[in-house]
Amino acid sequence: MTERTKKLMLSDRELKDFWLIRDGYHFFQAMAAACEFDLFTFLSRNPKSSQEQIHKHLGITPYATRALLFALATARLVEREEGGERPVYRNSKAAEKFLSHDSQYCMVPIVRRARQVYYRPMFFLYESLKTGRHVGLDDVPGKGNTIYEKLSQNPEQEKIFHQAMDATSTFFNPHLAVVEELKQVRHLVDLGGGDATNAIKLAQLFPDLRVTVYELPTVCAKADSNIARHKMEDRVRSFAGDFFKDPFPEGIDAVFMSHVNVIWSEVRNIELLRRCCEALPSKGKVICYNLTANDTETDPPGAAGMTLFFLALASGNGMAWPHRAYIEWFEQCGLTHTRTYRVKEPYDHAIIVGQK
Ligand SMILES: C[S@@+](CC[C@H](N)C(=O)[O-])C[C@H]1O[C@@H](n2cnc3c(N)ncnc32)[C@H](O)[C@@H]1O
Repeated sequence: MTERTKKLMLSDRELKDFWLIRDGYHFFQAMAAACEFDLFTFLSRNPKSSQEQIHKHLGITPYATRALLFALATARLVEREEGGERPVYRNSKAAEKFLSHDSQYCMVPIVRRARQVYYRPMFFLYESLKTGRHVGLDDVPGKGNTIYEKLSQNPEQEKIFHQAMDATSTFFNPHLAVVEELKQVRHLVDLGGGDATNAIKLAQLFPDLRVTVYELPTVCAKADSNIARHKMEDRVRSFAGDFFKDPFPEGIDAVFMSHVNVIWSEVRNIELLRRCCEALPSKGKVICYNLTANDTETDPPGAAGMTLFFLALASGNGMAWPHRAYIEWFEQCGLTHTRTYRVKEPYDHAIIVGQK
């Protein structure tokens, strides 16, 4: 502990955590810029690179390189090693795992979406909290009351959004292999199934399963080309509509929702689950896969951050709901909660299963 931190009654660690949050906008932008340069992939392949090697590789000035590396080292995204002829840099363990394209957990598309789609609208968090309205959405061009409707009018941003959803699905959909209930399902509808990445994975994991992706029309077009690319047209198809207003596809025996319940309020979720129940036969399954808050709503950071995104930008009323919320909704809709699968890797999710 330094003299200064002794006086403040804070440990060096506590003080550093505070600075990283107070100046978080600088450090996030440093990470996002490094991702755009693909610096972390370079360092993964060339650990122990000097500042000179890095500035030549990035094609930026020595001063810009020095400033960027200073921020990344402070934020513990790179590590600087002294002792040799000149200092050298390598990725921190977290950067190696999450920010290199060579890692199966690469989150670079998620960082890009945060910089290009979320960052500016999130400036309006204060105004959103104050007015009870998702004021950040006003900053996104187009018509509509959710970010999804507005993205459908912004092809470039919609592409960035779905590339990030794809990266997210790639972490989480292998966990679906353990869901016993899916072995009995024959025709599943994937509500808000995005570009069909999860639907294709489900069909690959469960050979007797047919999957229909229920999506907004612009997203169905992305799903169709993804399905064709994987030559899965015989078992996976898209279905265009608004799942709050339009009918569900016929002949389904399960509903799957991944990262969908988080978008909506409790009232809207109950409305959606009631619609699912109406469309399902007796003993039909509902499977909700979501980022969840812990029971005391004090962790994990990804869930708390996402909650603010729903509040200020996406819909104005969603949340990374705790597990108990799903159980209450199921009860209100005539569903029996049968099982929950907890997913920890790479961050807290739950697969919650109900039966009609
Ligand atoms: C957060 S994304 C989840 C995508 C995918 N399920 C996943 O986990 O990667 C939510 C999806 O719901 C879709 N969506 C939102 N509102 C919808 C509605 N009313 N009807 C149909 N799809 C909707 C959006 O287009 C978006 O692709």
